[in-house]
Amino acid sequence: MLGDISFRNYKKNDIHGLALYPATMVAPVQNIILQELLKSEDIYSVLDPFFGSGTALYEALELSPKIKLIGCDINPLAHLITKVKLQGLTKNIKKDVEKLKYYLDNIQIDNYSFHNMNKWFRSDIIDSLKKIRQSIMLIECKKNRLYFWSILSTFIRKYSNTRSSTYKLHIKDIDSIQRMKNNLIDDFLTSVEQNISKFTISSSNVKLYKKDSLKQLTKFKNNSIDLSISSPPYGDNATTVPYGQFSSLALHWIDKKDLVFDGWELNNYSAIDRRSLGGCYKGSIENETGSLLLQPFLDNISKSKQKKVISFFRDYFIFLDELCRVTKKYIVLTLGNRTVDGVNINLTSITQEYLEHNNFRNIYECDRDIPNKRIPKLTSKVNNIPVFSMNKEFVIIHKKIV
Ligand SMILES: C[S@@+](CC[C@H](N)C(=O)[O-])C[C@H]1O[C@@H](n2cnc3c(N)ncnc32)[C@H](O)[C@@H]1O
Repeated sequence: MLGDISFRNYKKNDIHGLALYPATMVAPVQNIILQELLKSEDIYSVLDPFFGSGTALYEALELSPKIKLIGCDINPLAHLITKVKLQGLTKNIKKDVEKLKYYLDNIQIDNYSFHNMNKWFRSDIIDSLKKIRQSIMLIECKKNRLYFWSILSTFIRKYSNTRSSTYKLHIKDIDSIQRMKNNLIDDFLTSVEQNISKFTISSSNVKLYKKDSLKQLTKFKNNSIDLSISSPPYGDNATTVPYGQFSSLALHWIDKKDLVFDGWELNNYSAIDRRSLGGCYKGSIENETGSLLLQPFLDNISKSKQKKVISFFRDYFIFLDELCRVTKKYIVLTLGNRTVDGVNINLTSITQEYLEHNNFRNIYECDRDIPNKRIPKLTSKVNNIPVFSMNKEFVIIHKKIV
């Protein structure tokens, strides 16, 4: 069906490089899958229930400008970045950049602060961030303001005291903190100016929810979405990718009025991760098919580690049930198989069988190497046995049997 999908040399020089977000999908892969499906059938709506930085939704828009885009993500930073990519900028953006520069030159630093600000940022960086924050807040046009915030989010992390080698918050050593050169305002402005030209399309036919997908999907009607495409988390965020923790420093700086923000998200650095898929234990898996598929893997995992796996799959099967209910034609998933206690949990085969059981026939599967991974291939040793992190991802396409 599809040709080579390795895209080894893909660099995010396009709009997907706008802001840093963990574990993003590879845009050209999603693009060729969508191309194939959009040409084979009439597809009027696309859903990504875990849109992250909006890769799949943006690629769908590029291929089909009138298509209805629906998405959900629990993380306000993901919501911000995706909204900006899809809604674009106004024609006054260059004037707003000039205003921004003027404010940056003339602003008086205020006394904004948050818990542990001085732990995560050097004092001169705090001053620069305050200047940028206050200047962005003075821009009247919301669309352009959101663009400035999304660009800033990457630099907040880059200039923070947390290590860049992990998505978790992990303080750098004193030397590295002191060695950092403060080029923040210039870097920010350069990126603001360079990224403007990447905005060539936009859509108003978009509905993005900053919500828990498990709850949001229950509100959608049966068969109301033609095509669902996503890369769900591969396990609970705390032990896989802590999207919430990664985003928390940026979320502290961005004006809450410009975020879809309920208030609980920054209660602590793990608040978003705990409310994400599999983030807290709610009891055993109630679903019989799911239990049977998971049991062979659980049998080989120590009791202490089983709980995390059960928490994740309990939520995951509920999610899959809802996805099958709301999707009319195709489900496309990009998945990874993680290792727990030395056991490779085959999320891909579990998902395939589960979808088949739910009336979605598998029509395509392939794997691709994940190049340039931030997480080293060998992540740790357990009982002196090396544990390899995921370096392959799997794409599966299922079609509803009618
Ligand atoms: C693998 S990432 C998606 C990346 C995306 N495909 C991209 O290219 O940027 C998984 C996403 O699921 C979100 N997520 C996890 N649990 C969620 C939940 N219960 N409801 C909504 N979103 C959730 C995370 O915030 C994260 O953005």
